[in-house]
Amino acid sequence: MTSATALPEPITTGYQIDATGLEKSYITPGGVTVRALDGVDLHIDAAEVIALVGPSGSGKSTLLHLLGGMDEPDAGSIVCDGRDVTALPRAELVAFRRTVGFVFQHFALLPALTARDNVMLPVLPYKTTYDAKDRARSLLDDVGLAGREDALPSQISGGQRQRVAIARALMNDPRLLVADEPTGNLDSTTGAEILDLLFGIRETRGVTVVLATHDETVAARCDRIVPIADGRLVR
Ligand SMILES: Nc1ncnc2c1ncn2[C@@H]1O[C@H](COP(=O)(O)OP(=O)(O)O)[C@@H](O)[C@H]1O
Ligand SMILES: [Mg+2]
Repeated sequence: MTSATALPEPITTGYQIDATGLEKSYITPGGVTVRALDGVDLHIDAAEVIALVGPSGSGKSTLLHLLGGMDEPDAGSIVCDGRDVTALPRAELVAFRRTVGFVFQHFALLPALTARDNVMLPVLPYKTTYDAKDRARSLLDDVGLAGREDALPSQISGGQRQRVAIARALMNDPRLLVADEPTGNLDSTTGAEILDLLFGIRETRGVTVVLATHDETVAARCDRIVPIADGRLVR
């Protein structure tokens, strides 16, 4: 039996991240080795909003997955607030992942679940000591979706779906938000609103944000642009 999960402590600050010498290759079903990351060094300050910018296939998603602990590098380290997350034992890696919120281009909501239940997904397998429904409702308020908690994804707009996905990413009070082309499926006005929301979250929660984008307007608004090409950061 799992023990009850307590309400996450409100964060005081986002992660400071030091990635060093990251390498990652994939082997395709055809047996070809693809070098997705080829020696990436990246320092990210706490509560910084970083835009990873580069052509399709340059390694953006791979780097985001490594930073969020979703995948392991072949070489290199990722130190978050002094802790090397690439060397964590399994149980601690699971706990680390809970401190990272993920936002995706295609929202990744479950179509049969209401907005509220989608937001509750990260804690659904756990017994919580707090009222997860209340927390989900209040997060939906925070992202501008008050009153829409019973809506299904098919009943709301793309921008609203992304707001639900962002509320879900906040359920565990993350110290890092990783967003893979969060505006890629939205028109430019809606995309700008989603970016406003992410900046507001950084202001109020002090969370570190790393996003990947193709959109120069989105990138230009971030604190820093990190160009990437062929698995290497471009100086
Ligand atoms: N699971 C995988 N299997 C094989 N190759 C992959 C896989 N994931 C990514 N790649 C390859 O790694 C490289 C980097 O991909 P990716 O990180 O998705 O780049 P981006 O997000 O910038 O488009 C590309 O050449 C891509 O085809
Ligand atoms: Mg990608």
